[in-house]
Amino acid sequence: MSTESLLELRKFVAPEFVFGPGAALLAGRYALNLGARRILLVTDAGVAMQPWFADILAALDATGIESIIFSEVSANPRDTEVMHGAAIVKERGCDAIIAVGGGSPMDCAKGIGIVSSNGGHITDYEGVDNVSVPCPPLICVPTTAGSSADVSQFAIISDTKRKVKIAIVSKTTVPDAALIDPMLTISMDHDLTANTGIDALTHAIEAYVSNAHGPVTDLFALEAVRRIAKHLPGAINTPNNIEDRSGMMLGSMYAGIAFSNAILGAVHAMAHSLGGLMDLPHGQCNAILLDHVINYNFDSEPERYTDIGVALGAHIEPSFTQEEKQKAVIEAIRDLKRMAGTTATLGSLGVQLKDLDRLAQFAMNDACMVTNPKTSTVEEIRAVFENAL
Ligand SMILES: [Fe+2]
Repeated sequence: MSTESLLELRKFVAPEFVFGPGAALLAGRYALNLGARRILLVTDAGVAMQPWFADILAALDATGIESIIFSEVSANPRDTEVMHGAAIVKERGCDAIIAVGGGSPMDCAKGIGIVSSNGGHITDYEGVDNVSVPCPPLICVPTTAGSSADVSQFAIISDTKRKVKIAIVSKTTVPDAALIDPMLTISMDHDLTANTGIDALTHAIEAYVSNAHGPVTDLFALEAVRRIAKHLPGAINTPNNIEDRSGMMLGSMYAGIAFSNAILGAVHAMAHSLGGLMDLPHGQCNAILLDHVINYNFDSEPERYTDIGVALGAHIEPSFTQEEKQKAVIEAIRDLKRMAGTTATLGSLGVQLKDLDRLAQFAMNDACMVTNPKTSTVEEIRAVFENAL
């Protein structure tokens, strides 16, 4: 395994969390502890139809807290939706926010909190540490095993004017509590399980090779890779298997804790650019790009990528040349992609050669590019997009 210098200052941020079956039903008690009387409950239409959603609402009702439901959240949450939600918080006098959903409702809820406390427009807060006033109390109840917005200091919002996703990285977006209940993920369909699972894997890989990684994030990142490799096939193929669903939820949480503190890299920078242009599922964007970015980055962190290959279960002998190790790691990623059915190319989704300059330019401006292990030029990133076409 790669060695690590301990002679650097490191900060580590994580929320209070409860993990396990039934955690979601603690929403009422946690909201009460935070002094909430009237909450904005941010979700989406699909989640609001699930039978357990009514149970969460009932748990809130039982505490006497009033819930105002806001479910107008797109798969890639938009700046306009954030501003709409913030207007409701103001009009109705909400004193706390609860997000129940995947990354989209959770990121939207974070954005609503930022605008509620700080005013202005959500796009004013793009980048790292640009939010000055703390947000209203926020509880996140994740319903997918992927985005880990419930444990992260990230919010990703679509800027509808520029057609790009912006990354907001701020300690103020770390929830006050994450109630992580694997039972909620059983209702995910095949594609959502696959896309969100590959997203979680990408978080773990990018955190492990990030130039801001440290001994604490390494611990979570590598264990996340192991758990996701072990449990993703079962979660996809036998959706009701709670063992694999719990394994994926834990793996995703580990990956979230890792990437929230080590930040990400070129896969996410490029996926944000792509998702802004094409409005595709975030996990699918990552899946398309992951093996191509690893091929490009490999020589900057060969030992770390080899650790990842071993954690994925690839056959890698110590006597292998760097080239052989690279091939084995890439094959392990491609095997997992084939198993998950996430093998689309950019071309098959309608991306054209003429789009690549713009995609590469936006990716270069994304906050996640700063921690990519290889310092890149716009031409190099364009070439990686072209390989994925
Ligand atoms: Fe992601």
